[in-house]
Amino acid sequence: MRTVQIVDLTGPESALAEADLPEPEASHMLTPGSGVLIDVHAAGVSFPEVLQTRGEYQVKPPVPFVPGSEVAGIVRSAPEGSGLSEGDRVAACCMLGAFAEVAVAPDFLTFQLPEELDFAQGAGLILNYHTAYFSLKLRGRLGEGETVLVHGAAGGVGTATLQIAKGLGARTIAVVSSDEKEGVAREAGADEVVRSDSDWKDAAKELSGGGVDLIIDPVGGDRFTDSLRSLREGGRLVVVGFTGGSIPEVRVNRLLLNNTEVVGAGWGAFVMGKPRVNREIGDAVNRLVEDGHVRPIVGARFPLERATDALQLIDTRGATGKVVLELR
Ligand SMILES: NC(=O)c1ccc[n+]([C@@H]2O[C@H](COP(=O)([O-])OP(=O)(O)OC[C@H]3O[C@@H](n4cnc5c(N)ncnc54)[C@H](OP(=O)(O)O)[C@@H]3O)[C@@H](O)[C@H]2O)c1
Repeated sequence: MRTVQIVDLTGPESALAEADLPEPEASHMLTPGSGVLIDVHAAGVSFPEVLQTRGEYQVKPPVPFVPGSEVAGIVRSAPEGSGLSEGDRVAACCMLGAFAEVAVAPDFLTFQLPEELDFAQGAGLILNYHTAYFSLKLRGRLGEGETVLVHGAAGGVGTATLQIAKGLGARTIAVVSSDEKEGVAREAGADEVVRSDSDWKDAAKELSGGGVDLIIDPVGGDRFTDSLRSLREGGRLVVVGFTGGSIPEVRVNRLLLNNTEVVGAGWGAFVMGKPRVNREIGDAVNRLVEDGHVRPIVGARFPLERATDALQLIDTRGATGKVVLELR
């Protein structure tokens, strides 16, 4: 089968190479001896793959390896009792191996793809939307009518968070860095948009009548302290990622003085051993698809052989919504 591999750790412009490899067995590393084999129609491309080309992500397989953590496609075979069968349209998190014509995923991370979504949208569903729901609801304890500020709001996690927050009855403030990204955030349902190079903290406080209830932060870096300052009493800041490049540190006296919280949200590690929670998140996301709130925004599509361009688009901060490789 056709694949793209990471062959060295020289960065997104040079680390990838096409390779013809044998198809995988129906066995996934998380469920040895068992797995869902999927004919891949679309593979999601995300920030971690960029980091992996430099050996900077926490998952560090030995090179060469086929990267890519999520796919959408058609089930070729599925384990008995999984509720899945040959021919089903699915979206799945395979952890690695998505940049290939055939991928294998654990059954508990494989979900029926709602008919409202095409394969490219399906390739942007699990990682971003499950993370968004988990961060907003389970970690951030979002209540109806609360105001949520979303950093990196035109990105994959950002657009997913805006859509889910709206679906859960919240008011949203998006933080973005350009006119184009402002348009994407509005398309994803942002009620208000502020620019990351402006005095966004004061703008957010004014727009929320004194402070936001919840911040979802996939960016981190030097805006963290201003994020804490823009929370109202009882507000929560949920840490999701560090695309800004540096991992912020918290002076905890700020939390004491203002009665605020910083909460970590690591979706994969949390759901891994909790099949019930994992299914509940999947069901909740699919309900939000059915009622029209969730529609993954595909910002760029590339054929498999242009995976380098896909990674570079993310690396140069040019991506909006989800970047996808189309294989069929
Ligand atoms: N915790 C979890 O369970 C979990 C799950 C999924 C993803 N993540 C993490 O969430 C983060 C976001 O992922 P994503 O797929 O949404 O990425 P993305 O689509 O590339 O979006 C990231 C956003 O970060 C902002 N940004 C600020 N400084 C940047 C810089 N120096 N370089 C690149 N982007 C920069 C950009 O927005 P502006 O240009 O508007 O500032 C960009 O739109 C990643 O770190 C990823 O690993 C975590």
